[in-house]
Parts: sequence; C-alpha cells; structure tokens
Amino acid sequence: ADPAEALNVFDIEAAMYKTAPPAHVGYLTTGIDDDATVRANREGFQRLQLRPRRLVDVSRIDMGIELFGTRYDSPIAIAPTGSNKAFNHGGEIAVARAARAGNHLQMLSTVATSAVEDVIAARGAPVWFQLYPTNDPAVSDALVKRAERAGCPVIVVTIDVVARQNWETLARLRRADTRQCGSCHGLGIRDFVARKPNFDGIDVSRISNTGATNLTWDTIKRLRDRLSAKLVLKGILAHEDATLAIEHGVDGIIVSNHGGRAEDSGRATIDALPEILAAVGGRIPVLVDGGVRRGTDIIKALALGARAVGIGRPYLWGLGAFGQPGVERVLQILRRETQAAMQQVGAPTVKDLVPAMVRLPAGVDR
Ligand code: FNR
Repeated sequence: ADPAEALNVFDIEAAMYKTAPPAHVGYLTTGIDDDATVRANREGFQRLQLRPRRLVDVSRIDMGIELFGTRYDSPIAIAPTGSNKAFNHGGEIAVARAARAGNHLQMLSTVATSAVEDVIAARGAPVWFQLYPTNDPAVSDALVKRAERAGCPVIVVTIDVVARQNWETLARLRRADTRQCGSCHGLGIRDFVARKPNFDGIDVSRISNTGATNLTWDTIKRLRDRLSAKLVLKGILAHEDATLAIEHGVDGIIVSNHGGRAEDSGRATIDALPEILAAVGGRIPVLVDGGVRRGTDIIKALALGARAVGIGRPYLWGLGAFGQPGVERVLQILRRETQAAMQQVGAPTVKDLVPAMVRLPAGVDR
C-alpha cells in the first residue's frame, strides 16, 4: 500500500486497521461508555453549513497563523497523544519530522515514548509540552522544569481526565488481543509512567493516578506562579471555566473533550466553541480539537474564531499505517483540503474566515 493512494484521511484509517493489533485499534477508537461523545464531535462539524462568498481573488492562499509570536504555515496542530511508539517504532520522532516538513505546531504528551529533548531536536523547533498533573505536585514541577529547560515555550495542562476512564471499546478489543507488548498493557500507573522517558530521574513513588481527582483552580494558580512558559488549559468546555481561566492568568485555551475519551454524553467541541469564544472576547487564543477530519471542519472552526485546530487520531492512523510518510500524507491531505475550502468560501487568509461564513444549527449560541 502507498500513502499517496489515500483520497482522504479515512483511507489512511482503513489502512491502519488492516494491520494494527486489535488492542491498538481499541486504544485509538475508544471513547467512554457508549462512545457517544466521539460520535458527537464528528456530527457537530457535519451539522454546520457553509455560507460562501463569491468573486474574491483566491489565487493565493495563505493559511499561516501566529501563536505566541511563532508562525506556523497552517492552522493544523498535532494534539498530544501518548505512547506513539506503540504504533510505529518511529513514534513521536517520526511525528516530529512530519510536523517539521509542513511547519506544524506539535504538542508532546507527558506520557510520550520519546523524551522532550529528542522530539524538539527532530522537530527542529520548540514543541509545546502537555502536562498531566498528578496527585503529586512535585512530579508536575519536575516535568515542567525539564520541559522549560528543553525550550518548550508553552505548557499545555490537560484538566479533563478526572475519573477512571471507562474505555469499554478498548477493553473489549483488548480481550480479542492475546499479545502483551509490555510497555502499555496491564501496568499500574507508577510502572506505566516510570517507563516513559519524560519521567527519567523523577521520583514517581507517590503518584496514585494520572487523572487527579484533587485538581482545582489553586493547582493552576500554583503552576502559573512557577512557570515562565505560557500556560494553556486543555479540556475547557464551559464559558464559566473560560472566564475563570482568564482570571487565573491562563494564556490560552484548548476547547477539547479529549477526543471523546474523558466523559460520555458530551457536546461536540465545535458546539462548545462559540460560548467560550464569547466569554474570552479575543483576550487569549482559543484552539479546538476533536473530530477534525476534513478541510471544511478546519475552516468552520477558524471562521467561528478558533486560532488553530488540533488533530489526534488522524496522524496516529498515518503513523500506524505507514510511519513518518503516513503522518506527512495525513497533514498534506488536510492542508490541501483546507486550501480548497478557503478558496471556495472566498477567504485568501485565515483572517478572512469570518463567523458569517458558518450557519450554526438551532440550539448553538453564538
Ligand atoms: C489522546 N489525547 C491526549 N490528550 C492529552 O492531553 N494527553 C495525552 O497523552 C493524550 N493521549 C491520547 C491518546 C490517544 C490514542 C488519543 C486518540 C487521544 C487527546 C488528544 O490530545 C486530542 O484531544 C484528541 O485526540 C482530539 O480528538 P481526535 O482528533 O482524536 O478526534
């Protein structure tokens, strides 16, 4: 198989599932309980309709964006995902090289299978470091200190994993998979993180969970006071929390439901985006992820006011199916579709993507 033959990212998904172990397919596809939030993310984008403008010169399209003073050639960011080496031995390094090829923003997971310094070297530029705060603040401090020293300008704090994640689809597919690769199957949390390179030299003996149940706004305030990097919160879904984030000195927000892997019965992130943008009022950048699979999804999010979108599963499909060339192909497909979509709605730059180009369904407030 050849990644160039893929017409869209779903062809890459199908290619990956042909060869991937069932447990890995489960890890990628799973949501919580009935996977309803996973489906909602897609349906949210599909419900929005475009309202294009005509007779605009779109012979030159610039989809570049700027975030915290850094320019990226497109608004398509690599969302943080754990254990990338499970899908291909190249892991996060292969993802970084693909991100470099298209100058994409990359966020690196706390539980990556490559060290932050090595990923930055492969990306050839700083990446954003994603932090899972645990019940032990000393571990968070050590992780962010390491990331800052490595040159990460932004720490993304994921705040949406609180309860035990009832990943039923994963549990079911794991039963169909007799292999035990060892690095991620059936480990307790301390053994799990102790094998992750970002934790090298960090005492994890007091960690009891990754999704800490005792996190509060005080946790964020404490981190804010210790960081010189920018602090972005990932997992905000309500305007009240967006307002609190700004009050606590947060520098950016990622509207996210963890790709439907945090709680079920959730709204589509694209449906949550407008109320958060309204509360933020342009004071800090707002990004969104969850279910982004088409260039039209990307321009809908940008037209509503998001500064960038994150993708999770699609680049992992590319990684699992073809390694680095697969990730490159996914990013290229999404860039090409975004370019065509910008031309069709009459927006030569991302600034020309405006809310009037999107028709919101009834029930979603602007
Ligand atoms: C994730 N996500 C995630 N988020 C995070 O903050 N830290 C992490 O380590 C992970 N790990 C992870 C693994 C896998 C397999 C998936 C699918 C997702 C969530 C991720 O950053 C992002 O929010 C979603 O993936 C976006 O939704 P889509 O694009 O997967 O639909």
